[in-house]
Amino acid sequence: MILLERYRDFLPITSRTPLITLHEGNTPLIRVENFEKYLGLKNVRIYLKYEGMNPTGSFKDRGMVMAIAKALEKGARYTICASTGNTAASAAAYSARTGLKSVVLIPEGKIALGKLAQAMIYGAKVVQINGNFDRCLELVRYLSENYDFELVNSINPYRIEGQKTAAFEIVDELGRAPDYHFIPVGNAGNITSYWKGYKEYREAGKMSNLPRMMGFQAEGAAPIVKGHVVEKPETVATAIRIGNPASWKKAEQARDESGGVIDTVSDDEILKAQRLIASLEGIFCEPASAASIAGIIKYRDVFKDGDVIVATLTGHGLKDPNVVIGNIEKPITVNPNVDDVLKAIGR
Ligand code: F0G
Repeated sequence: MILLERYRDFLPITSRTPLITLHEGNTPLIRVENFEKYLGLKNVRIYLKYEGMNPTGSFKDRGMVMAIAKALEKGARYTICASTGNTAASAAAYSARTGLKSVVLIPEGKIALGKLAQAMIYGAKVVQINGNFDRCLELVRYLSENYDFELVNSINPYRIEGQKTAAFEIVDELGRAPDYHFIPVGNAGNITSYWKGYKEYREAGKMSNLPRMMGFQAEGAAPIVKGHVVEKPETVATAIRIGNPASWKKAEQARDESGGVIDTVSDDEILKAQRLIASLEGIFCEPASAASIAGIIKYRDVFKDGDVIVATLTGHGLKDPNVVIGNIEKPITVNPNVDDVLKAIGR
């Protein structure tokens, strides 16, 4: 069943809402036993919610399908968003699918190659800004307030509504909520969505427990952890290169109500975690997503016997090939004969 139908009772769907889909959601929840062993954890289960398996390769599709459905319901013709890349890709895809025109504002030179290619091929009007994501967001807020553009960033409440379905899927599969939920934090919409989803599902009697929300920002882009706006955010994880998150207060609320934390991980820890989870488990996520893996590594000592841990891998690794090519030793080239190939293999 498509996402909007499956969770219809929990979503703002009316008889006039078009039930559009690119078959988003229903993403795998993968147990990672090699990683558990690597951490030296015996009676602790870790699962990754692999959101890279969504149609445009990130969790954004869950929120976007809802936001675009509501935009269509009210007769919008144009969508607009600011983006570090994934929102742009998703907005462009769902707009294309439903005949809307999409405009995306991105920080020039600071979005991963795959995401830029997506926005372009889906036919969005891509405008690069000589400034960062935070400035892009200010501009699209203004434009959506003063012109007939439908804003599809996560300040659009329908985005949050759609994204909370990831929490529902986790509970449906595990039969309970995890004890800890690890998640990267950028503009802070997703941590807000998961917490809302978990709370609503508990209210509906689907489970009796709630997780601690464990959010992670990159060290160079950690406004919530530092307690002030970061004017010039910097991180290799361009998806979360954000200095003034829109859902700042709601993220703090999720942290505090759940008894969790919002903490930092360094770029080095992010890249190591990305490589670790790929080489240990065969799961390739983008750098921002690996912040949640780096978070688990950082907090490995807090887990107790029997704990169930879920981490969201927000985006697919193929989004950002350059970060891999630039950080791992390049393959060697040899002459095309058996001896040279065996020598290169080391056999
Ligand atoms: N991971 C990935 C891969 C992302 O693209 C984003 C946000 C996040 C994590 C953080 O999620 O913003 O809800 O806290 N990307 C946005 C974008 C900002 O424009 O694609 P958040």
